Amino acid sequence: MSTEQGPTRPDPGLPDFPGLPADFLWGAATSAYQIEGAAAVDGRTPSIWDTFSHTPGAVDNGDHGDVACDHYHRLPEDLDLLSGLGLDAYRFSLSWPRIQPGGRGPANAKGLDFYDRLVDGLLERGIAPWATLYHWDLPQELEDAGGWPHRDTAYRLADFAEIAVGRLGDRVHHWITLNEPFCSAMLGYHVGCHAPGRKDFPAAVRAVHHLLLGHGLATQRIRATVERPAEVGITFNPAQVYAAGDSPEHLDAARRADGMGRRLYLDPVLLGRYPKDVSEDLERRGAPLPVRDGDLEVIAQPLDFLGINYYFSDTVAPGGEDEEPRRVPQPELPLTAMPWEIYPQGMTDLLIGIDRDYPTPPLYVTENGAAFDDSAFGTDEDGRIQDSPRTAYFADHLAAVARARLEGVDVRGYFAWSLLDNFEWAYGYDKRFGVVHVDFETQRRTLKQSAVWLREAARNSRTR
Ligand code: NOJ
Repeated sequence: MSTEQGPTRPDPGLPDFPGLPADFLWGAATSAYQIEGAAAVDGRTPSIWDTFSHTPGAVDNGDHGDVACDHYHRLPEDLDLLSGLGLDAYRFSLSWPRIQPGGRGPANAKGLDFYDRLVDGLLERGIAPWATLYHWDLPQELEDAGGWPHRDTAYRLADFAEIAVGRLGDRVHHWITLNEPFCSAMLGYHVGCHAPGRKDFPAAVRAVHHLLLGHGLATQRIRATVERPAEVGITFNPAQVYAAGDSPEHLDAARRADGMGRRLYLDPVLLGRYPKDVSEDLERRGAPLPVRDGDLEVIAQPLDFLGINYYFSDTVAPGGEDEEPRRVPQPELPLTAMPWEIYPQGMTDLLIGIDRDYPTPPLYVTENGAAFDDSAFGTDEDGRIQDSPRTAYFADHLAAVARARLEGVDVRGYFAWSLLDNFEWAYGYDKRFGVVHVDFETQRRTLKQSAVWLREAARNSRTR
């Protein structure tokens, strides 16, 4: 082999992932409210997260997304950063209240222009755009009209999809309708720790159904608006559940946790029906799913891919509040700063379980990553934070993905969460997930060691 082609063997010190093919997709992910800032610029109106984060006590330190990473004003710089990482794809979300202020009616030209610049900038740099339509920033007016517990919101999402895809669909070929509907419904309307901060379980269950209906309607609308090669999918964060014991009560707790955290979402989308045991439990709890004739056919649109976000697993026992299983901490597992238990094998088990239980389209890990207290790490001579636990987290989870592939699961890509340190929802700016450090005083960006590792690991895997 000619030496001009450069080394074709893995660099020493870099892990090799034998299960990952050379065409495995390597990416990084963000979402609009977490990075854009420019909250009241160029016609954008408030979303539920603007309202929630400005509610005293809702978010740690009173943090909000008014400025965030100021990505709206620093787009060229951030695109160059991304390009420097040499990744294949970038997953971002579209701000609904920027594109369609108020959530209904005509599009806002300036909002769409921003995403035009983003998409063109990615394509110029050879990076594939993966756009998420809904990453939690519901226009406040739609919440005032009832929010996700209200059926009409599903139809509003389809209209928004048409606007977005009508403008960007000639260049964006990968569309994700929803990000983690579990969080939108359960954290937003039941637990109340996410916007809009409601604590109403029956409303949360109605939200689940209307989010999924919105997904189905949006999928139909995308397909009607653009020709293939548009690929459409949805991103879930399915629970990976283990029973803490083998008594019938433990197994029932695991069934419930798996039902509420995984099957309630995957069954309707991939099988066209809600799980019977979960529907019955919900009815008994006075929180029925508001299904109308024909809804499940809409929800179960054939998909081109399924996005999976994975961060941790759940070990459960009976005895939680309100019939919910109780989570049992696993003290032997290391923790991130969230503090979430680090258990890469859970990712392998999750992917294998989904492949076993469902007729799945190709899978992509659309998020995986870790927050650590970066101030505890040193820096190298280039000022890079030596965030080796984050690098190890990525390496161990990529190895977990590779194991699932070796078991025959068709996982085709991996997006690191996140490109930038950003607004981590109810935790504000203290929890840093970025591979790029952001100084929120100066907005200066600095690569962390994990960013360099990701670049090298991706390059290594392509040349194997
Ligand atoms: C999943 C969410 O999609 C993302 O917005 C969030 O920042 C990460 N998990 C980390 O919590």
